[in-house]
Amino acid sequence: MNYYLAPMMGYTDCYFRSLIENIYGNRVLTFSEMIVDKAIIHNEIKTISKHFLEKNKSAIQIAGSDPQEIKRTINILNRIDIIKHVNFNLGCPSSRVQENMLGLALTQNYDLVKKCLFELINYKHEVSVKCRLGLGMNEDKNYIFSYLNLFKDIGIKKVFIHCRNGVLNLDTKKNRTIPQINYELFLECSKKFPEMELIPNGEVNDLETFNSFKSKNINKYMIGRQFAKDALFLEKLKLEKINDKTSLVLDSIKELDNYKYLNINLLKKSLFTLINNISNSKGIKKDISIIDNTKDLLNYIERKIIWT
Ligand SMILES: Cc1cc2nc3c(=O)[nH]c(=O)nc-3n(C[C@H](O)[C@H](O)[C@H](O)COP(=O)(O)O)c2cc1C
Repeated sequence: MNYYLAPMMGYTDCYFRSLIENIYGNRVLTFSEMIVDKAIIHNEIKTISKHFLEKNKSAIQIAGSDPQEIKRTINILNRIDIIKHVNFNLGCPSSRVQENMLGLALTQNYDLVKKCLFELINYKHEVSVKCRLGLGMNEDKNYIFSYLNLFKDIGIKKVFIHCRNGVLNLDTKKNRTIPQINYELFLECSKKFPEMELIPNGEVNDLETFNSFKSKNINKYMIGRQFAKDALFLEKLKLEKINDKTSLVLDSIKELDNYKYLNINLLKKSLFTLINNISNSKGIKKDISIIDNTKDLLNYIERKIIWT
């Protein structure tokens, strides 16, 4: 596993994750959109069956701030066989998430994070955390160092670090461009915590960045928006090869056959991420946009040479 598809609300639904998983196989591990623990506690069956296919390979990302609720959530997840990895969100800055003291806002309260993580680690499979490099506009090494020490002491080794600070009371979109990316501090963390598996996230999109990380022995990356813009970008950068895309895409669509919540428009939205940057992209998208059922979609993909 070299790549991780970052959790993204409104993108990493089970359609998109299934496409990425079929196309890249075990080279990419995918993460669900953030799911608040209360949704699992109060509506377990619907929440899980909406977000995960029967043959699920994705990790679940959860958010919570009440240790007792996290405990109940972990008890539930311990009974669900199709999920094998729980990731805890400590980086989301959105105002709604902030109001509920989740994500980035929770990290204002170190002791509460600690209590939450103590419950999280009762999960019987893999546990990881996704966090920011700092809180607020200014570099603060103490923030990330003290959290990495906490994760290490608690026994959470795998940490996905969005390599820019998160800023509360700044809208979510701006929080993906402000403040500047700070890979230097990420590299310092990697050196300081060699026993941990720290995975960089944040604009890891081009060869220069990949090569620069590789030269420092960082060989695993979490990527979000670039997968959503052009799911084949790893092939275009000649980092990965994908044979017979058509049959992989067909397999992915067939996998959705038994999916109770199938929504053809969401399926097409995910499919477009594979079509955005190819020749005749506009024409193909136009054809697909008028298709309204999976059978016709399968026929169209089978007949048309979309990917050469
Ligand atoms: C539309 C959108 C939704 C996101 N939703 C989540 C989320 O649910 N959980 C999370 O941890 N991060 C979320 N993020 C942040 C991404 O996981 C990632 O950290 C961020 O986009 C930076 O990586 P990138 O530059 O590769 O996109 C979201 C980002 C975007 C663009």
